[in-house]
Amino acid sequence: MIDLHLHLLPGVDDGPATLDQSAAMCRAAAADGCVALVATPHQRRDEWATGDSARLERELARLAERCGGRPRLYLGGEVRVDSELVADLARPGRSGIATLAGSRYLLLELEPRCLGPDPAELATELLARGYQPIVAHPEMTPGLWREEGACERLVEAGALLQVTAMSVTGDFGRGPRERVWDLLEAGLVHFVASDAHRPDWRPPGLARAHGEIAARFGLATAQRLMVENPLLVIEDRPWAYAPGVREAGG
Ligand SMILES: [Fe+2]
Repeated sequence: MIDLHLHLLPGVDDGPATLDQSAAMCRAAAADGCVALVATPHQRRDEWATGDSARLERELARLAERCGGRPRLYLGGEVRVDSELVADLARPGRSGIATLAGSRYLLLELEPRCLGPDPAELATELLARGYQPIVAHPEMTPGLWREEGACERLVEAGALLQVTAMSVTGDFGRGPRERVWDLLEAGLVHFVASDAHRPDWRPPGLARAHGEIAARFGLATAQRLMVENPLLVIEDRPWAYAPGVREAGG
């Protein structure tokens, strides 16, 4: 499996504090069946200065060396959406904003109440500029799940949705679990990722979610969400489904 969203670099955000913790997360992810991880520090949040791509690359290289290249590590970012995002992406060096593994795919963290730019309009604008937006954990974004049809509109606009493995398995409680399974039933989920933060708090791992999805929708769906679709991203291949065409739920 390939995990597209986890906080893996030491001391850069609310993820692991030390290289030892980062390495422990890599080992846990590998033991759980992940062959590749995309480290996605929070970006464009006031709490952490993570706009220095050279520093992030250095931390990633240090961790990759420590882990001996297993699992394979890539750099990305969980990019908070604000009204300046599109303009900053157009600046030289993209203002330090990291796409997933250097691809066209951009992992977005919407404001909880979506008070910033309209998410569907933003998706359209990013697509027109050559970026493929992926919206992180819509099941945890009240602005999306409280508004009837908001996720459908986002997908129809061409955005892809990533849900969190611990929401799938119910570790975040009944609400997120029900919302994720509704999205899965509706064919509105494109990726499952761990959004792991520490070895002992929100740990890495996709196997349990993979098992539950395979049991309900079949192995092919679980593989698509945790192997095939993430592989498209790290290989920077174009999304195979035209905007507005929903991926089959099973
Ligand atoms: Fe995250």
